[in-house]
Amino acid sequence: MNPASGSWLRVARVSDVQAAGTMVIRAGRYTIALFAEGDRIYAIDNRCPHMGFPLHRGTLREGLLTCHWHHARFDLQTGGTFDLWADDLIVFPVEIRGEEVWVNLHPREDRHAQTRARLEDGLKHHLPLVLAKSVLRLLDLGEDPVEIFRIGLEFGVHYRRAGWGPGLTILTAMMNMLPYLDPRDRPRALYHGLDAMAEDCEGASPRFPIRSLPGPASDPERLHRWFRQFVEVRDAEGAERCLASAVEAGLPPVVIAGMIFAAATDHRYIAVGHALDFANKAFEALEIAGWQHAGPTLTSLVPILVSGERMEENAAWRHPVDLVALLEQAFEILPTIPAADPASKGKWAGPERLIPVLLGDQPVDIVEALLEALREGAPWEEVAGTVAAAAALRIVRFSMNNEFSDWDTALHTFSFASAVHQAMRRFPSRALLRGVFDAAMSVYLDRFLNIPPAPLPEEGSAVGDPDHVEETLQALLNRQAAVQEVASVVAGYLRAGGEASRLLAALGHGLLREDRNFHTIQMMEAAFRQFSIWRGTPLGDWALIAAARYLAAHVPTRRAQEQTYRIAERLHRGERLYEELAGMEQGER
Ligand code: FES
Repeated sequence: MNPASGSWLRVARVSDVQAAGTMVIRAGRYTIALFAEGDRIYAIDNRCPHMGFPLHRGTLREGLLTCHWHHARFDLQTGGTFDLWADDLIVFPVEIRGEEVWVNLHPREDRHAQTRARLEDGLKHHLPLVLAKSVLRLLDLGEDPVEIFRIGLEFGVHYRRAGWGPGLTILTAMMNMLPYLDPRDRPRALYHGLDAMAEDCEGASPRFPIRSLPGPASDPERLHRWFRQFVEVRDAEGAERCLASAVEAGLPPVVIAGMIFAAATDHRYIAVGHALDFANKAFEALEIAGWQHAGPTLTSLVPILVSGERMEENAAWRHPVDLVALLEQAFEILPTIPAADPASKGKWAGPERLIPVLLGDQPVDIVEALLEALREGAPWEEVAGTVAAAAALRIVRFSMNNEFSDWDTALHTFSFASAVHQAMRRFPSRALLRGVFDAAMSVYLDRFLNIPPAPLPEEGSAVGDPDHVEETLQALLNRQAAVQEVASVVAGYLRAGGEASRLLAALGHGLLREDRNFHTIQMMEAAFRQFSIWRGTPLGDWALIAAARYLAAHVPTRRAQEQTYRIAERLHRGERLYEELAGMEQGER
């Protein structure tokens, strides 16, 4: 196997391959399997694209090669597999020149186009290993993560009749977290996001979008009113056509956001806050992917907006104190609140005075304190952020005596409050201020979760070696319920002035190596966002301590998804996975 001509290599004698039936040669970075059948000779990458089994040990019948490990079948002519969970083979062009076999080391297919197609296969058929391999390969081929996200977004908004759900939320949260992660964890985050979204769509009917109104759209104010009326009476078709028309008419994002966030706050804490949370995520997704995706993305919010439970219907919001009535009185005052001046904080003293009231047990005082802050000229986004910080503090002080499921009660409030805060930063409005009050009422309702309050991490508590914060955290997160220890490490590291980017990357890694949990991801992403806004203040620290406690309470998991990712990663690196796994299996037996 030597004389080369361009990319063509002479690799064997025809008679030798035919006599052996199968032959393995090394050429460049490939180990190539040659197969003879009749007067045809085929050349393929010898590693099974599924999990690396050496294909020369497979069986060839009538041009169909069967791998002996998991029995995937491949057409040797094209390399295509008949088992979608495997992958297509790398096939090399072959020429017979007299008695010589020549192979072209440039595989036949367009790797980029083929990998994108495989990514779509992975989404359509929910194939986690295919998704992981496709993400790794696309990034290696220079694909922009935003483009990968866009493929996921387009898929997710079309293939789930129930509209925007946890999968798209996880995908967007993962994109938001990318800058905080170690570069080695970024493909892992994309894999989790796409896999969550594919899981959400698996077996679901697709959405058939409703067309916009024919002809020029009505004026924006009328569309705004109609949209809210349709959501009010739970008319999904009417609401979707209205929204599609507003997008089609080219109304600016701020106007459309006004419609959606008004409808999301016309009732109290809709769907335990998920309706507004998803709406905020949808706008974040558009910020990443581009406004050209607004139509299908925003209309996918309609199902949860119209069908979500309204807390007017929930006993805890009505008894013993009628919180809904209390809020409605406050909302009558909102139109008299002067528009906040972003350049000034007015007479507002800052979050410190408001937080103890928010954490108190007097809803009347909470409502009055919020109104007072707004009257004093507090920036609306800062009031929203203060409520999010109070919600984080509930988790910092979450008592381990609570039922385990109550972690999610506290999480829902924090995630909602953080979403209101993010939305207020982008699209401030009086209607959205109602979400701030809802979040504050939910913080109030969660007060029993802090009885007795978990102790705050002590000044000077043991934090391990700050130079090894990653190892310390990973070791603690390998143990069950090391909630206080992890909180101490995080608090101590921050107090000692440790570099925040290392801590965020370590917590991010702690999240990504575990099996996915929608709520843990919501918690971490919201905490990272809050931390970056409140950085250098106790409010920022609370967000990260809360996230660390929540994560520690929910790990370790079986890490099955991590196992899949690692297989993909090692195959991608060209490691000899088969031999090693086969050895492990024998050892286990
Ligand atoms: S089918 Fe070949 S390694 Fe799994």
